[in-house]
Amino acid sequence: MLACRPAMALLAALPLVAAELPREVPKIYAQLCAGCHGPQLQGGTGSSLVDGVWKYGDGSDAFLTKAIADGMPLAGMPGFGQALDERQVRGLVIFMREQAVKAQQRGTPKPPPMTTGTITTKEAAFNVEVVAEGLKIPWSLAFLPGEPGFLVTERSGALRPVRDGRVGAPIPGTPAVWSEGQGGLMGAVPHPDYARNGWLYLAFSDPAPAGSEGSMTAVVRGRIRSGQWSDEEVIFRAEPRHYRRDGVHFGCRMVFSEGFLFFSVGDRGGRDHAQDLGRPNGKIHRLHDDGRIPADNPFVGKAGALPSIWSWGHRNPQGLAVRTGRDGGVELWSHEHGPRGGDELNRIQRGANYGWPVVTHGLEYDGRPITAVTSQAGLEDPVIVWTPSLAVCGMTAVTGDRFPGWSGDLLVGSLAGQELRRVTFPPNGPPVQEVLLRGQGRIRTVHQGPDGLIYVGFDNPGRVVRLVPTGPGSFP
Ligand code: HEC
Repeated sequence: MLACRPAMALLAALPLVAAELPREVPKIYAQLCAGCHGPQLQGGTGSSLVDGVWKYGDGSDAFLTKAIADGMPLAGMPGFGQALDERQVRGLVIFMREQAVKAQQRGTPKPPPMTTGTITTKEAAFNVEVVAEGLKIPWSLAFLPGEPGFLVTERSGALRPVRDGRVGAPIPGTPAVWSEGQGGLMGAVPHPDYARNGWLYLAFSDPAPAGSEGSMTAVVRGRIRSGQWSDEEVIFRAEPRHYRRDGVHFGCRMVFSEGFLFFSVGDRGGRDHAQDLGRPNGKIHRLHDDGRIPADNPFVGKAGALPSIWSWGHRNPQGLAVRTGRDGGVELWSHEHGPRGGDELNRIQRGANYGWPVVTHGLEYDGRPITAVTSQAGLEDPVIVWTPSLAVCGMTAVTGDRFPGWSGDLLVGSLAGQELRRVTFPPNGPPVQEVLLRGQGRIRTVHQGPDGLIYVGFDNPGRVVRLVPTGPGSFP
C-alpha cells in the first residue's frame, strides 16, 4: 500500500485534457470512492474532495495521484494502486477537479433538516426532538445517575456537559488524545454504581509513549470534581509495542454487564492481529471495574495470550449492548464495521473467535476479493450481515415502558447508511429489522436515557436528538 510509485508522480505532470478521461471514471468513483467520500464528493467518512481544503498535501496533481495510488494509512485512506492503472488514477484526479467546479456552482450543500412531525413505525409512533446542536462528531453520551442532562464526547477530544439544550465548555483535564484519522476521544460510560462512587470511564486513542509511535486504544476512569477531570486511573493501556501509526479501527465502545467492564479494540489496521491472542487489537476485552483481570476470563493462564481478552477475530466493533433474552439470560451483543460489505451483528460468547480476516462477507475497498470463505468450523457466524455496508456505529438495547413495543430490541445506528434500525428477535426464526430513521445524517451513537427516551447522536451537523413516543405505532 505504501509502495513508492515514481511513475505516478511523472504522470501527474502531464497536461490536463478532459477528452482523455476514460469513460469509466465516474463509475470508478461511484464504486470505489463514493462510499467514503459521498456520491457528490461532498464527504462522509472521508473528507470532502470538492471544498478546496486539502488536509494532507498541497492539492497538486502529484499529491492527489499519490494519495489515491498509495493511500494514507495515518488518515484511514486506503490505496488503490493495485486495483487501478495509472490512466484510471489520472482520470480520478481530473474528475475531482471537474466536480469541484460543479460543487462551487451548486453552492454549499445544506444538511438535511431534522424531520418534524410524527413518525409512525410498526410498534411505536414518535416525534424527533433536537436536544443539542453545534457539536463536532458527538461520539458517545453518558447519562449520570442523579444529574440532569448528559455528557458528550467529541472525537476531537472534548468532554462536554449538556443541560437543557445548552452545550457547556469542555471539562478540563481529560486525557490527551491522538486525534488522527478515526482516532480521538470516543467512549464514555458511568460506573453502574456511579451514584455512590462517581467513576466515569473514557475510551480513546492514546498517544504513543516516548520511543514508540502512533496510538492505541486505552481506557481510563476518573471523577468530575468541581467541573474538573480528577482522580484519573488507568484501566487498560497496551504495551508500547502495540501502538500503531494507522489512523483506523480503534473500537472504543464500552458496556458494563454483571459488574464487569467490556470494551472493544478494533484491529488498528493490522488485520491479522485479530487472530493473534498475544495482541490487544481486534478483540473485545473484559475487566473488573478497577482494571484487574477476572480470574474466569477465557485465556487466563494460556501461554502467549492476553488475559483481558473475552472474544477475538473482530475488525472494528463500534456497537456494544447488553440485552436480556427471552429466558431472562444476559446477552452481550456487538456489531462491527466490515470492509466493503460484511458489516456484522454478533452475539458475543466467552472465548469465541468471530473470524476476521479468515472469514468475512466483505471485499477490499478497491474491489479485490479477500476470501471466498464466509463460514468455517470453530469460527462464529454473524447473526446479521449488512452488505452493502451501512457502516454500523452505536447500539443500545431497549428496556422500560416508554417504547413497550421495542422492549428487548437492539437499536443500531449507521454512518454511511444514515439509518437507525431496530432489530427484534422473534421467538422462532431469524431476527427482523425495521428502519426507524433514514437520511437525516450520519448516526454515530445511540443510547437510552434514564427517562426511557432514545437519544441519537449525528456527526454533521453534530447534534443529538431524542425520540419521544406519541403512541403505540401502526400495528398496536
Ligand atoms: C474506506 C474509506 C475511503 C475510501 C474507499 C476512499 N477514501 Fe479517500 N480518504 C478517506 C479518509 C478517511 C481520508 C482522510 C480524511 C480526513 O482525515 O479528513 C481520505 C482522504 C483522501 C484524499 C486527501 C484529502 C485531503 O484533504 O488531503 C483524497 C484526495 C482522497 N481521499 C481521494 C479518494 C479517492 C479518489 C477514492 C476512490 C478511488 C477514495 N479516496 C476512496 C477514506 C476513503
